[in-house]
Amino acid sequence: MSELRHPPGTFDVLPPDSARWEAFAATFARVVEAAGYGLILTPTFEDVAVFKRVGESTDVVRKEMYDFEDKGGRHIALRPEVTASVARAFIQHRPALPWKTWYAGSNFRYERPQAGRYREFRQVGIEAFGTDDADLDVEVIALGWEFYRALGVNRVELQLNSLGDANCRPAYRELLLNYLRERRDDLCDDHKERLEENPLRVLDCKKEPCRDLVKAVPLQIDHLCDECSTHFARVRQGLDALGIDYTLAPLLVRGLDYYTRTTFEYTGLALESAQNGIGGGGRYDGLVAAMGGPQTPAVGFALGVDRTLLAAEAEGAVLGRQPGVDVFVVDFAGGEAARDLTAALRSAGIKADRAYDNRSAKAQFKAADRSGARFAIVVGPDEAVAGNVGIKDLQQGGDQSTIPAAGVVDEVRRRLGG
Ligand code: HAM
Repeated sequence: MSELRHPPGTFDVLPPDSARWEAFAATFARVVEAAGYGLILTPTFEDVAVFKRVGESTDVVRKEMYDFEDKGGRHIALRPEVTASVARAFIQHRPALPWKTWYAGSNFRYERPQAGRYREFRQVGIEAFGTDDADLDVEVIALGWEFYRALGVNRVELQLNSLGDANCRPAYRELLLNYLRERRDDLCDDHKERLEENPLRVLDCKKEPCRDLVKAVPLQIDHLCDECSTHFARVRQGLDALGIDYTLAPLLVRGLDYYTRTTFEYTGLALESAQNGIGGGGRYDGLVAAMGGPQTPAVGFALGVDRTLLAAEAEGAVLGRQPGVDVFVVDFAGGEAARDLTAALRSAGIKADRAYDNRSAKAQFKAADRSGARFAIVVGPDEAVAGNVGIKDLQQGGDQSTIPAAGVVDEVRRRLGG
């Protein structure tokens, strides 16, 4: 049988590298919980209908969804993103407003795997429901910004746009459509065919003919209604007041169809441009109603964990403590002392590990070094008989000293400085 490997577009994260993923989630929770966001857990798979409103003209829904019929004949999809699930949960449970949530977890998109683009990838994100106050857009954007700083990722560009709303978008859509229809021959092959479906998709098309064409297209930000214009101005004022730099990006439409008004992306400047979108989000005031709930404005973002970690690495940000233990018990007197001492150390809150199988002292000391422990507690036959143990500083060197086994917890605590 050939060797079993993880599927294409997925990867394993082993310790100690996984400490970076842990630190990521912990830092995110700290930043957003301090602003009143509470953790929400939703299923990793949903009825496929939940994701339909994410956009039937988007690649995410049309081409990349992991969907299947389950054994009960239900049409199920692994979530390609979390926003639609949170909106579904909102409609189902009707929590009091405003409702501010955060999440962390895996998403699945059948994309062509490459560095920074995976079929299973992790996101953290926030979603806030119940007000269209532009200050909330600013809060959301600022939290992402603050989080990157807390993580040590500093080379981030914030791109900002407004996509208008149900009031002004239809007229802009018509304007854009007419403009592009007249130039249909200049579009990429895909958009020649699919122009009518959603002309906005042309704006962020990566293919050369479309990129050329959009240089002179009419822009939504020049055709906002008064309400959207005032809203956008307030968002910009808020970002200015908080000292958050942004670049206006009038072609930014994002890869999902539910956005209204504010849309934004965080770009990791240390990454290659194909995968430098490290996070993004925006307002989606129409999604809850489109999914059958009450009209409820909402705004949020999701950050790509794996991709942001690539950016952190490229910037040389050091993330995550080394896991590992404080103490390693080396026992060549039969193993009972190792069993009892590690248990006593652990229940005293000291991180402790040991070797198994009565291995040689040499092999155990090697394991102790590999464990990253600061101290080795050494139990040889003589010490065991006398009720003593040796303690040796593995990091600073020096001689091994002998202490009573009964005092080991206090001595380790004292030496660790607590
Ligand atoms: P999104 O732009 O599709 O937005 O994804 C957000 C982030 O997830 C991206 O910026 C990227 O860092 C990461 N990401 C997306 N696809 C992949 C992939 N195949 N491999 C690695 N990382 C990836 C959303 O998902 C929206 N739900 C964001 C949102 C929340 N809007 C409002 N609220």
